[in-house]
Amino acid sequence: MPAIAVVGAQFGDEGKGKVSHYLARQAHMVVRTQGGNNAGHTVVVGGKVFRVHIVPSGVLYPECTSVIGNGVVVDPEVLLQEIDYLRSEGVDTSRLILSDRAHLIMPYHRMLDGLDEDRRGLRRIGTTRRGIGPAYMDKNARLGIRVADLLDPEGLREMIEENVALKNDLLQKVYGQEPLSAAAVYEEYLGYAERLRPYVADTARLVNEAIDAGERVVFEGAQGSLLDVDHGTYPYVTSSHPVAGGVTIGSGVGPTKIDKVLGVLKAYTSRVGDGPFPTELLNEQGDAIRERGKEYGTTTGRPRRIGWVDGVLLGYAARINGLTHLAINSVDVLAGFDKIKIAVAYDLDGRRIEDPPATLRDFARCKPIYEELDGWGELGTPAHRNEIPHSLERYVQRIEQITHAKAAVISVGRDQGETIYVEELF
Ligand code: IMP
Repeated sequence: MPAIAVVGAQFGDEGKGKVSHYLARQAHMVVRTQGGNNAGHTVVVGGKVFRVHIVPSGVLYPECTSVIGNGVVVDPEVLLQEIDYLRSEGVDTSRLILSDRAHLIMPYHRMLDGLDEDRRGLRRIGTTRRGIGPAYMDKNARLGIRVADLLDPEGLREMIEENVALKNDLLQKVYGQEPLSAAAVYEEYLGYAERLRPYVADTARLVNEAIDAGERVVFEGAQGSLLDVDHGTYPYVTSSHPVAGGVTIGSGVGPTKIDKVLGVLKAYTSRVGDGPFPTELLNEQGDAIRERGKEYGTTTGRPRRIGWVDGVLLGYAARINGLTHLAINSVDVLAGFDKIKIAVAYDLDGRRIEDPPATLRDFARCKPIYEELDGWGELGTPAHRNEIPHSLERYVQRIEQITHAKAAVISVGRDQGETIYVEELF
């Protein structure tokens, strides 16, 4: 039975929550492998809306084990708030597991995220200011504090003292801020330790055992491929690996154990935060899509930037992820448009290029070369692919051609019911 990786094929907010949630219903295990509470999933179950940032969507199913893998950076305060919120809504959180190797987001990470953004001024990344980047910086600088360290009070005290001393230098000398108290941070985190202890485990062993036992496992992606720190529009990226390769590192599962890679995209593109966006629509068409698609951030409430689908970036995303399948979301949002555009190449100083450039300066000069397809009207709720309008079918086929992947899911509305499952994935 397969293990499926669900990844964002654009800049995040592609609707991965809806797809992973659908798969979670049939799964034994749902695993998060990267990012932190910069993500935001909205899931509707039985008419009730749940908003989660860190807990995997599998938690909403009592049969499903939810895993926060080693690649995730965890803000314990936010995780505990989310557990409390879910419990108060009657959700059983006893099948949630947290990797002992996951790194912790500390108060100084949140502070430094905001201070660094302010320092950059106009060149800011537009981060969520949740401390994600600084937490990954400490992980790679080999200064990070991990979940397992929370459970060892003596070791934890030493690590917090060392880290707070270093960060106080930075806070005071570079940013002119008040220093933090190591004792206060220690007390706060010791409190989290007691509450988190029952959830902590060696998750890599458990995920591997589940796959080896033939259980259905979903790796639930966060952010999107173009925000990957290696493959995205650097430096306008997040600090983790939202691509399929990040799944193996962030969970401790080898690549040979992942059977399918499902890329999730919208029929248009959105981006929160700054950075290259060649197909951006800075006109009424963009505004109309933003309103119809309710394109405001789940985590920060920011209006999202909107543009046409970018086939150059989609083809690239398909390649770096090895996509086997697609979920095409929000096609209803474009209903009523006479013509739909897809960028198929860029014009860079009079030259046609079909791959994204590596530098921001080149990106800034890229002008999309569009292909125009006929639009579609209101869609209703078709149950099968052969019930969708001809023009939408041609659009889906064009995306399949660009990505060399097969559309397994086409979503024609926000509700779970408004979805065509072309192919069963499990
Ligand atoms: P960070 O992840 O907070 O460091 O932000 C880095 C960039 O990634 C910014 O442009 C954010 O807006 C973007 N970003 C982070 N998480 C998400 C997400 O879940 N959806 C969409 N964009 C995100």
